[in-house]
Order: sequence, then structure tokens, then C-alpha cells
Amino acid sequence: MERTLILVKPDAMQRGLAGEIIKRFEQRGLKIIGLKLLRISRELAEKHYAVHREKPFFESLVAYITAAPVVALALEGSDAVTAARATIGATKPSAAAAGSIRGDYGLEIGRNLVHGSDSAENGALEVANFFSEGELCADWARDVDPWVFE
Ligand code: RTP
Ligand code: MG
Repeated sequence: MERTLILVKPDAMQRGLAGEIIKRFEQRGLKIIGLKLLRISRELAEKHYAVHREKPFFESLVAYITAAPVVALALEGSDAVTAARATIGATKPSAAAAGSIRGDYGLEIGRNLVHGSDSAENGALEVANFFSEGELCADWARDVDPWVFE
């Protein structure tokens, strides 16, 4: 089972899309093991997007992700990283497939509504960066699991 960190970004929060976005991951079959509302600090934003530190858009990216509270979701499932990124859609919303979150609700790359981890390794690291062990319900099983996971 893989883990992935999902963030409902500030633009999606301002637009009242948190419920719609969470619903899509739930319906996909991914299991919620962590869920909270938080205001991302500058320190956490710089750590989360450290790979982009040298990019010209880094400052605006940090300003964007810290501009309002976000909902952080820790999800678990088979191939969770790939599945979640498909549900999210391409980074540039104007080119994202219709039916994906970005393809249905977004237009611009700097307002792309939602984050999803980009590898299983980063999924585990990012979940640990946003949730303490005590905040996770890592060991619950759903009655439906045998009908979602083969
Ligand atoms: P995310 O990390 O937020 O889930 O997005 P992603 O994997 O689809 O895209 P990534 O390459 O990791 O970029 C992180 C965020 O930086 C902003 N960005 N702006 N102006 C630009 O060219 C540009 N490129 C990336 C986006 O907000 C993207 O989500
Ligand atoms: Mg990324």
C-alpha cells in the first residue's frame, strides 16, 4: 500500500471546493488515514516545495500556498500516488483532462487547486511532514476494502 499527501490549496478553499475535491478521492477508493485544516507556515512551504527553490516562480508559489488555510489529506491505497495524480490532472489546468479536478475547475498553473505527491517515496515523506504519528489513523480497515483492493 502506498501513501500520498493531498493538499486542497488556498484557491480551492476560497472557492468552497474542499468537499467536492475530498469526495473525488473517497469515491476513487483511496482510504483516508489523516485529515486536517491548517495554515501552512513559510517554513513548511519552503520545505514542501524545496525542489523548486531555484525556480523563478518559487516566491509566488510559497505566497500562494500560505495565503489561506489548506485541507491536508493523507491517503493510502494500491498505486495511490499514480491514482491520485490522475484524479488531480496535469499541472497546467488549461491542458488538464476534463473529468480531472484541475480540468474541471482550473485554468492557470499558479491556481491549480490541489497538490498530490509525485512518488511513493515522497508520499511517505510528505505525509510525515504534515502529520504526526498520533494524528494518523493508520490501522483502520473498511468493510469495503475487499471490494476495492483485490
Ligand atoms: P504540486 O506539486 O503542487 O502537486 O503540482 P505538480 O506536481 O503538478 O507540479 P510541480 O512541478 O511539482 O510544481 C509545483 C507547483 O508549482 C507551480 N508551478 N508554477 N509558473 C510555472 O511555470 C510553474 N510551474 C509550476 C504550480 O502551482 C505547481 O502546482
Ligand atoms: Mg509536485
